[in-house]
Amino acid sequence: MLDVQGLGIRFGGNQAVQDVTASIPAGQITAIIGPNGAGKSTFFNLISGFYQPTSGKIVFLGEDITPLKTHQVVARGIARTFQTTTIYRELSVLENAMIGHRVRTKAGLLDALLRTGREKRDDQESRAGAMRALERVGLATQANRPAGALTQEGQKRVGIAMALSSDPKLLLLDEPAAGMNPEETVNLMALIRELVAGGLTIALVEHKMSLVMGLADQILVLHHGQKISQGTPGEVSRDPAVIEAYLGSHAHGGQMGQSTQGADHA
Ligand SMILES: Nc1ncnc2c1ncn2[C@@H]1O[C@H](COP(=O)(O)OP(=O)(O)O)[C@@H](O)[C@H]1O
Ligand SMILES: [Mg+2]
Repeated sequence: MLDVQGLGIRFGGNQAVQDVTASIPAGQITAIIGPNGAGKSTFFNLISGFYQPTSGKIVFLGEDITPLKTHQVVARGIARTFQTTTIYRELSVLENAMIGHRVRTKAGLLDALLRTGREKRDDQESRAGAMRALERVGLATQANRPAGALTQEGQKRVGIAMALSSDPKLLLLDEPAAGMNPEETVNLMALIRELVAGGLTIALVEHKMSLVMGLADQILVLHHGQKISQGTPGEVSRDPAVIEAYLGSHAHGGQMGQSTQGADHA
């Protein structure tokens, strides 16, 4: 579904992502893991058009989307959530999802908040799209509650609904389980499985190894901006290069090797 070839970006002297060639197959869950600062979020920022790569190519459904801006990428069918979800706590769950729809379609965030003329025209379409997204994440009955009144898990679901409201084919989730307790994490895993069963393709960045190992069809491992491994959870966790990268990292030392002992952390 998505192929990146030789993808790279440099910030000054820092090569944050370097020569990454990888694919995200349709209908599957791809996990992107790696120590802190490995380039995982930057990889998502490149795919979603937030950053322009300094080298390489991004092909989505046969189309070269490398030069496209965020809203154009969204229009092609790629949506994302952010590592730190920004929801509008005082607005209703539905309004949040509608903002997600507008920001991701025609109008910008400012328009969305100010309700200009164009917004009124888009209103019905946004409402319908937002309601469909809320149904998919199990929040339809909470649509009129203030988003800030929801649990941490509920607020994460709002963030996912905001991304789903543009009806993407590929959804990128950046650390969706961060800050979640084990029960919430299990619920989130069930939601991700449901979304994929419904036809969505998902790529996610996540530190919680129980989630990664329990969900991913394939794992891509980044280290210092480079892809050091790609394969099934079993293949990747046995890969000496991966074990060494994790053992050598102070931030996540030994986590891969200890995944069966539940070495989760946020
Ligand atoms: N906008 C930016 N400007 C400069 N450096 C950046 C920017 N975004 C990311 N980086 C750098 O890229 C590297 C990878 O960061 P990131 O992708 O956030 O890592 P990860 O998500 O794997 O923890 C880090 O060294 C980070 O400082
Ligand atoms: Mg990150």
